[in-house]
Parts: sequence; C-alpha cells; structure tokens
Amino acid sequence: MHPLTPKFPHLLHGGDYNPDQWLDRPDILEEDVRLMKEAHINCVSLGIFSWARLEPEEGRYDFDWLEAIIDRLYENGVYTVLATPSGAKPIWMSEKYPEIRRVRPDGRRDPSGGRHNHCYTSPVYREKVRQMDTALAQRFSHHPGVILWHLSNEYEGACYCPQCQAAFRRWLKEKYGTLDNLNHAWWSAFWSHTITDWEQIQAPVPQGEGSVFAQVLDWKRFVSHQATDFLRAERDAVKGVNPEIPVTTNFMYYYDGYDYWKMKDLVDVVSWDSYPQWRGGNNARLAADYALYHDIMRSMKKQPFLLMESAPSTTNWWPVSKLKKPGMHRMASLQAVAHGSNSVQYFQFRKSRGSFEKFHGAVVDHYGGTDTREFQDVAEVGRLLEKLDAVSRSQVRPQAAVLYDWENQWAMEDAQGPRNLGLHYKEQVLAHYQALWRLGVPMDVVDETCDLAGYKLVVAPMLYLLRAGFSQKLRDFVAGGGTLVGTYHTGIVDENDLCYLGGWPGDGLREVFGLWNEATDALWDQEENALCLEDGREYRLKDLCALIHPQGAQVLGTYGQDFYKGEPALTVHAYGKGQAYYVASFAEDGFYQDFYKKLAEELALERALPVELPEGVEACLREGDGRRYVFLQNFSGEPQKVALPAGYTLFGEDAPLAEVELAPYDSQVLETAAP
Ligand code: GLA
Ligand code: ZN
Repeated sequence: MHPLTPKFPHLLHGGDYNPDQWLDRPDILEEDVRLMKEAHINCVSLGIFSWARLEPEEGRYDFDWLEAIIDRLYENGVYTVLATPSGAKPIWMSEKYPEIRRVRPDGRRDPSGGRHNHCYTSPVYREKVRQMDTALAQRFSHHPGVILWHLSNEYEGACYCPQCQAAFRRWLKEKYGTLDNLNHAWWSAFWSHTITDWEQIQAPVPQGEGSVFAQVLDWKRFVSHQATDFLRAERDAVKGVNPEIPVTTNFMYYYDGYDYWKMKDLVDVVSWDSYPQWRGGNNARLAADYALYHDIMRSMKKQPFLLMESAPSTTNWWPVSKLKKPGMHRMASLQAVAHGSNSVQYFQFRKSRGSFEKFHGAVVDHYGGTDTREFQDVAEVGRLLEKLDAVSRSQVRPQAAVLYDWENQWAMEDAQGPRNLGLHYKEQVLAHYQALWRLGVPMDVVDETCDLAGYKLVVAPMLYLLRAGFSQKLRDFVAGGGTLVGTYHTGIVDENDLCYLGGWPGDGLREVFGLWNEATDALWDQEENALCLEDGREYRLKDLCALIHPQGAQVLGTYGQDFYKGEPALTVHAYGKGQAYYVASFAEDGFYQDFYKKLAEELALERALPVELPEGVEACLREGDGRRYVFLQNFSGEPQKVALPAGYTLFGEDAPLAEVELAPYDSQVLETAAP
C-alpha cells in the first residue's frame, strides 16, 4: 500500500496552526513547540489564511517568517502540511481588483472581506494564485519537513459574475455542440423557452430562469466543474515545481455544492473536516451519519483518507457550543480512524485571541496551560495514535456498497413533485446504511461512476437519475450473482433529467427488478401506510409509496392501507445469477434492521466482529500486515459489554480477552490474526 504522506508515513496528529496571528509574540511561538510535543502532535497545517502576511503588498513576498516556523517545527519532529492561501484574499487585492470578488445571484458584487468567496473564473485571481502557489512551492516543496499540500480551504459556493456566465456558455457549447441538442435536453419548448442564441443563456436565478431543471442541473455541474478546474490549476502550480509532494483539499460534511467525486481524481489524498454535534444520551444516529460520510471519504479513492479538522472540544458555530463529555474526544477520533482515516487533526492548535473563532475549541486555550480537559484529551489521543501506528498500513475492504450520488441528489431535489415537503434522500440512504452499520458490516459508499464488481451486496436507494452506462453496471452486477436492493423513486430520469418513456424504472431496470412502477403516491408528513409481511409483521411507511406491478418479481410484502391496500410493497426478483429486491416505500427503522439482518446472514456478509452488538455500539474493521484491527465505539451513553470470540486481545497486548467493557462514550481497539 502506498503511504498517503511518503515523507512521514505514519498516523498524523495535529491540525491548523496559525502562527501568523502571533508573530509579535515570539515567547508564545516558542511555547507552542513545547506544547505540541507534550500533546504528541506530529504535524500541523500552516498558512491556510496567511496571504496578507505572505504578500503584504502586491508583488512583495515575505516567506522568511514561515520558513523560520517550518524549520523550527521540523527540528522538533513536527511536520508541515502546507496550505495555499487562496481561501481568503487579502483586502488590498480585492480592493484593487474588484473582479476577484464574487457576484451573488441578484447580480451584486460582494464587498471586500469574508473568505471562501472569490470568483473561480477571474483570470486575475487565477494568476495571483498561480504566482503565489508557485513561489511557495519553489521555496518550500523540497523542505524535508513539508509532507503534503493543503490546497486552499473548503472550496465552496458559486459566482454569478459576467466572466462566470460566459464560462457557463462556453461549457454548454462544448457539452451540446448545437442549440438543437441543448433545447432538446432542456425540453425548452415548454413555456416557449427555446434558446436561439448562446448569448441568451444565463445562470438560473430565482428572479429569472429557475424552472428548467436540466438547466439548473447543468449549472450545478458547471459550478462544480469550474471549482474543480480552479483546484486543478492550484495542483498544477505546486506539482509543476515538485511533483513528489502529494496534494489534498479539505472537503465538508455532505457539501453538495460540488461533486466531490470529480474533485477526488485531482487530489492524491482525500481529506475532510468533521464536526459532529454530540449531545448527551444515545448518539447512535448521529454516529451512523458521520460513519457514512467517513465511508464516502475512504471509498472515493479506495484508500485511507485524512481527518483534516475536528474540534478538540466545542464548536462555536453550532447553535449551542456543547463541550465534549468525558470519552467523547477519543471516541470521535477513533471513529474516524476506524473508518479509514490515517489522521486526527484539529481546528485549531492555539485559540485565536480575537475575531470570529475566539470561542472555538482549540488544543491550547487562552488560559495557556496544559491542565485543561481539552489539552489532556488531545494528548491522550496523541499517545494512542503513536501506539496504533501499524493501523496506518491497513485498509477497509467491504463486501457491501451503498450508493449515494451527488448528481442524483441535485436532480431529485430540484424537481417539483412528487413531494415538495422533502424527499429525504439522505435520510433514506442513511436508513439502509444504519441497519447494516448496526450489524458491524463494513461498507463502501460509492456513486454511479464507481465500479460495482467484487461486491456481494449493492444498496441503491432512490436512484432517480441514471447516468449513462450505470444501469448496465447494475444489470451486470446482478446477472453476475450480486444482490441489489433498490427502492421507490428509481429509474425516473436519464442524465439530462428527461423522464424515461415506456415505464419506470427505466433504462432496463424493469427487467432487473421484474416489475413496473406505474405511479407513486406521496404522503403528508402526518400520513402513514404500512408494510405487511406474510408472517404477520407490520412496519410503518412514510413519504412515498410506489405502486408496482410485478412482472416476474415475487411479492414479499404488501401495503396495509388506502386504495392500494394489498398491492405489493416489497418484492424480490431473480435475475441472472443474482437477485434484486425492491422496497417500495420508506419504512421505519425496525424494517431495515430485520431485513438486513436476514440478508446479511443469507449472503454471509463479513462483519467487523461476528457477535451481536449492543445498541449504540459500532464495530469497524481495518486489515493489514496479517492483522485485523477491530474498533469498538460506544455512542450509547450507557455502559456496555461486548462478548468476544476466541483470539482477540486489546491492541498491542497478549492477554486473550473474552469480553470488553465499554464505559459511556468509550472506545477500544482490539486485534486478532487475519484468517
Ligand atoms: C472550518 C474551516 C476552519 C474553521 C473551522 C471551525 O472547517 O475550515 O477554518 O473555520 O471550520 O470549525
Ligand atoms: Zn465569477
């Protein structure tokens, strides 16, 4: 396995460090190094928002201060993840070149200030960034302490300036070639919106064109493309100087502004910033939600990722800034590692004295000492990661995959109907995921561009939009012996957002599921239906009820109410060597738990630990060097016990263990020989 950071191939522990805020306090900078060692920190991210300090006036670069810091850190065993500073532009620059500031959908240009708000198209900004990135790379990319590029910070948002609009038109021209093609894809005869000149095309905005869904979808694709192109330019700038240093950029929690699956091809390492809102009591649902996202991050490149930011304790932008309860810091940190992270990093090392984030948790508080819970929690995780270092050479190798597709979400959520109160795509994916997660089944979470070969089970809820070629992958997967679980609202539109003719689910999926979805009934929030199984079990249903006609599928359950009472609501169909289930509505959790328990047994899906897990306890598996590492996290808020099969020890110990006790919010790492 190729290490994520070859110059320092270990689990990373550290985080954002902003010494440029403290340059007038050499005593503090000195103290920081001592504190880092005490916290078992081995790397920091530097220079993320330092542009004004790196280029105090146009064309005058001042990197000496940064070099002094990188040197000192390196001499003390702390490595540098070096940022390009494009996430926040200096005020002198945005005042001199207004075009680099973003224009909002109402046509107004932002004043100077803020962050993550530059125009991605502006040639001026791109050139300034290229010059800065190149200069940083020339100065630092051969430094023995610099191990990774942190490109920009949390790329986000869209710009509606004239240069972006022109780029949108160029992108469309390239995609469609002719206006006839574009008009057909956009179904623009509707409401007489036929485009007769490319110059007529504008970005969709609420006060203008916002109802041509294919146009809205294309705009989202374009915005994603443009941000990805900006990322590419930054990558090329630093790699042009030294291709040896890997690059990453930090992704955000379920951020749907860009298709991260396109960006991931440009980075060597996927990383993200995780800020779960832990509370008292049972945090299992929240934990499953974050588990799913960690799994997306790992599945993107099918290799470990980096947790680039997390809060050592409190997060100041939540409605309420809760402190982490005892155990939670270690639990949340190990959850990330359990799902494939090769780091635990924080925002930030030393708490800022002023401005927006002065109340955000940090390793070192304004107080300055090490006798704080926050500091001690961090130091404990640091010691633990040093001990767990062999885990950095291990992988997660799931037999099951869950589909979560960005374009599918874009298309579904913009459409009017069938349920403008909320389609709950993410909740539906999570409902399936959580049931398998409770069983300790390792999962990849992939999108429609991914390869399905090799999985035993593919769960693809609400596959509304089918990208070209994807239904063929599903057909091949099932025909070859795979098990597919699909649901309502599947196979409705093609990649241009045009509805399939000839019956849903379209593009050949009717044959796979062995049914025709004639229509779909939508339920009000307070309405319910029921799924009735032959053995008498009943489960509540909500949101959408697909009315289906089996065409070869076997009926396993029926609706309990309404004019379609008694009609099929759960089916299975043998197709080739495999089988395809169809769950026609959104059921309560109990259904998914029972359904996947049985299915996991039938398919003999590998589980992290082959035992029944207590409610709220997660089990994850990483394998490498002939060892299996099992991570147990107790999110339940109650003490729990897990009985173990023979052959397990606590990580790094010899004494065999028959049972693990987990205090509330506790976490433990076990190991055993790989079979
Ligand atoms: C984000 C940013 C950081 C910081 C943290 C605070 O993840 O990348 O710069 O603002 O949030 O939680
Ligand atoms: Zn712009």
